[in-house]
Amino acid sequence: MRAGVFAFAVSCALLASGCNSLPGKPAPGPEVPRPESILSPQVLFAQNCSGCHGTEGQHGPATPLASPVYQALVDDATLRRVISRGLPGSMMPAFAQSAGGELTDAQVDSIVRGIRAKWNKGDALKVANLPPYADDGKGDAKAGEQVYANNCANCHGPAGGKIGEAGSVLNPDFMTLMAPQTFRTTVIVGRPDLGMPDWRDQMDSPMTAQQVSDVVAFLMAQKPNAPAGRTQAPQATQGAAHQRALQPRISGGAR
Ligand code: HEC
Ligand code: HEC
Repeated sequence: MRAGVFAFAVSCALLASGCNSLPGKPAPGPEVPRPESILSPQVLFAQNCSGCHGTEGQHGPATPLASPVYQALVDDATLRRVISRGLPGSMMPAFAQSAGGELTDAQVDSIVRGIRAKWNKGDALKVANLPPYADDGKGDAKAGEQVYANNCANCHGPAGGKIGEAGSVLNPDFMTLMAPQTFRTTVIVGRPDLGMPDWRDQMDSPMTAQQVSDVVAFLMAQKPNAPAGRTQAPQATQGAAHQRALQPRISGGAR
């Protein structure tokens, strides 16, 4: 009995945070902050985001949030919504407690403010015909096939042809696990950290907002039909599949 209590006390000392949830335990001192008391945007970003979006908001597998073009493209409400609820069917998880995540609304707000303070360079790009963030549903897949051939095939490979230097974006496994918005965001913002130009520096330079919508409509038309219940699939399974889908592109990517 004594030994058991001792072992429990020791494991509590070792796993201090794990025992914070025990009923009746006094509030921890400042050296062991409760997870929901962390409000530093740097700490929250490092703990929750940098693994996928990169420690400095770029060079990760996911959207380069630090890109000034991305910052010009989104508003605070969009950031807050995506971070809170995630992008269903993709690897981007929901973080708000109200959506099954672990962060309070105050923490989500702090991350949004931190991202803006660090990476938003103001309105400089707003004048440069930035295509709108959201799709207007007016894209034409047929026209988009030509836009793809002109602007994307030289790096990603022609539709139905040899995979390009930057890896295929038409691979069905990859497509299934991408949110439609991600295609649009990537066409506009590019992957400046990985060598993909933004919409201004494609072959049709700059691409018009219509061309952006068209090429996204073309990509969506190649997307395999989502099996029923896909968005409910366990995260780990999705993650592994997405990693596999990303792998050939990452290893074959043009740097
Ligand atoms: C497990 C990996 C992962 C983690 C952790 C993660 N993200 Fe993401 N995030 C993604 C992926 C992947 C996408 C693009 C979705 C897709 O593939 O279709 C994304 C997309 C986004 C977008 C939307 C980009 C757009 O098109 O507008 C925002 C904003 C974002 N993430 C912010 C965050 C923030 C802030 C955190 C931390 C609180 C975070 N993410 C944590 C993987 C992740
Ligand atoms: C100059 C070469 C180049 C051109 C042109 C180019 N891309 Fe890319 N693209 C890349 C590279 C490099 C990556 C990153 C690949 C990796 O993950 O290593 C990438 C990534 C992507 C991704 C995945 C983004 C993600 O976060 O997973 C999509 C989608 C994409 N490109 C679509 C397009 C489309 C559509 C076009 C044409 C409008 C295009 N690209 C034109 C080089 C290019």
